[in-house]
Amino acid sequence: MLNVVVLVSGGGTNLQAIIDAVEAGKITNVRLAGVISNNKNAYALERAKKHGIAGTCISPKDFDSRAEFNEKFLKAVDEMHPDLIVLAGFLVVIPPEMIARYRNQMINIHPSLIPAFCGTGYYGLRVHEAALARGVKVAGATVHFVDEGTDTGPILLQKAVSVEQDDTPEILQRRVMEQAEWRILPQAIDLIANGRVSVEDGKVRIR
Ligand code: GRF
Repeated sequence: MLNVVVLVSGGGTNLQAIIDAVEAGKITNVRLAGVISNNKNAYALERAKKHGIAGTCISPKDFDSRAEFNEKFLKAVDEMHPDLIVLAGFLVVIPPEMIARYRNQMINIHPSLIPAFCGTGYYGLRVHEAALARGVKVAGATVHFVDEGTDTGPILLQKAVSVEQDDTPEILQRRVMEQAEWRILPQAIDLIANGRVSVEDGKVRIR
């Protein structure tokens, strides 16, 4: 049984997709050990509470320094004994020590087909605004392992969606969420939980 901790900052639709998949048996061999948010008002915490999953808020704003936040944040994560950490719309920089400690045990969902529209400054609607500005014909989402860079870790799953003529950033975001994010993030967790994923020379192999 894999202990999974989910890190969130916002509405939590990806967290909800994970919860629904676990409850429907589409994700097996997983225990949702807890949800941590940097935002006390994140609706994701409400979603966790409704499903009896421990939720807590740890915000950099509550500490005098980033170093102090990093220490307390990592301690809270460690105390949940995660085998897998899932960043589901988490907007705080992960402490370097945590990346080292949980190398290849931490995944992120990004709302583009990496390496397009990713890296510093590409998050939320900005990703979709950039895609429409460039005039791409396909968009999509990526699940990747977290390393020291921004959206640079080994890619586990990707799923493309079509870009339509009259898409707005909001319409495109919703399509990427519905048709890509909410499918590949639960799928990625199930693959990892059932021992089907390895990282070799920076590339992901799925058995
Ligand atoms: C999603 O678009 C995800 O790709 C990005 O942040 C957003 C989180 O949305 N990382 P939600 O909180 O899961 O609804």
